[in-house]
Amino acid sequence: MTAIVLAAGAGTRMKSARAKVLHEIAGRTMLEHALVAVAGAGVHTTVAVVGHDREQVSEAITAYDPSIVQAVQEQQNGTGHAVHVALESLDSAPDGTVIVTYADVPLLSAQTLAELLVSHRAAGHTVTILTAEVDDPTGYGRILRGPDGAVTAIREHKDASDDERAVREINSGILVVDGGFLTAAVARLETDNAQGELYLTDIVGKAVAEGRPVGAHVLEDVWQTEGVNDRAQLARLGAELNRRITAHWMAEGVTIVDPATTWIDSAVTLEPDVTILPGTQLLGATAVARGATIGPDTTLRNIEVGTGATVVRTHGSDAVIGDEATVGPYAYLRPGAELGARGKIGTFVEVKNSTIGEGAKVPHLTYVGDAEIGEGANIGAGTIFANYDGVNKHRSTIGKHAKTSSNNTFVAPVTVGDGAFTGAGSTIREDVPPGALAVSAGAQRNIEGWVADKRPDTASARAARAAQDHAAEETSGE
Ligand code: UD1
Ligand code: CA
Repeated sequence: MTAIVLAAGAGTRMKSARAKVLHEIAGRTMLEHALVAVAGAGVHTTVAVVGHDREQVSEAITAYDPSIVQAVQEQQNGTGHAVHVALESLDSAPDGTVIVTYADVPLLSAQTLAELLVSHRAAGHTVTILTAEVDDPTGYGRILRGPDGAVTAIREHKDASDDERAVREINSGILVVDGGFLTAAVARLETDNAQGELYLTDIVGKAVAEGRPVGAHVLEDVWQTEGVNDRAQLARLGAELNRRITAHWMAEGVTIVDPATTWIDSAVTLEPDVTILPGTQLLGATAVARGATIGPDTTLRNIEVGTGATVVRTHGSDAVIGDEATVGPYAYLRPGAELGARGKIGTFVEVKNSTIGEGAKVPHLTYVGDAEIGEGANIGAGTIFANYDGVNKHRSTIGKHAKTSSNNTFVAPVTVGDGAFTGAGSTIREDVPPGALAVSAGAQRNIEGWVADKRPDTASARAARAAQDHAAEETSGE
């Protein structure tokens, strides 16, 4: 089986520097949605027809799957021309069934293509068109049927009579067709129509004229036939796809408190008894294990969340959160952050390219960059891992069950041994042996009377004076 995916058209109304088919919904480009659908229908050869924004589109196709054949349509002379160009790019004419679909119809599912193929084969048709009944068929090709209900032709809107325009059954543009017939038919298409284009749809009239069986597979789910031409349509189809994705996960046992403010990409996976609170976006290849709670107001991209973990008001990408671990509120996980089981990344904590061991805690106001924090360690509030010397990044290690105090700076590269402690306000530049207490701030000096001397007649001086007088009275009263 062969698929031809048309992607050569211009996306003028997107008003974008990016090719239309490379705009995304649910974390995939429209082009990828089309390629995923045809792959899921069991196709072995896929030809993509590229033209407008060819370099961008071509690069995206190669990155997605280099085995996809690319056919270049220099000028967009119509869908029939595009299919002709696709067939010419193949070493030999396809002898099996050919699926023709568009790269700008992102909701079309593999299941619908499979059903279309089943109905095509069961009826022994030469061509089967995917059609839909719509309220406003303006602009679409209309499905014309004879008195017996058999499909006789597709008439483009611009070529249609008033009676034909009254027909509400439209051509989705997606069809399956016998490869041998298609090859012969597209070679004989003509441009004698309102747009002066080679219409793929004219193969239907040709099949009927040759006495070949032609059918239509009417799709109730009209969304799957909708194309995107502008950003309003992109948002509309994006919202509908998200509605379908959230409905799917709820059916699989995930609690989604507010599906309207929860956005889940196509490739995300969720286990039963995950709870998603409002305002959450799960993007890319994020995977959330059983019993975890995410949100509210959390964005995770390519993050693995362990069983029973809790992630509150967090923004992160390319990170791992262990089983029963807790993150947030207000945490920032950057690529390479790995939090062990039962570990904690707390409030206003940023972690990058660092491993935090099992049960280790980084609870408050801290930057952890390029560090290894051992299991059971506790990092004091307001700690900075100074990983960057202005030229290079260096790594630091905090040992197992180490307890570092508040307001520490670890000047990398530095190692704090297992079970070691540090004092408050320390700047740790030298390695700390296991079990030692490191103190770097010098002994505290109190310069008596400094405020009265240097800041006389201020509120501070008066407050200090009052406290001193009060202390003196207490002493004399004893
Ligand atoms: C086409 C169908 C119409 C159908 C409608 C559904 C024809 C003649 N008409 O309309 O019956 O109701 O789709 O949306 O087939 N493309 C190319 N090269 C071209 C022309 C188009 O690659 O030379 C691609 C476009 O990028 C797009 C798709 O084919 O993905 C359809 O093209 P578009 O111009 O949107 O459709 P119409 O021709 O208006
Ligand atoms: Ca057109």
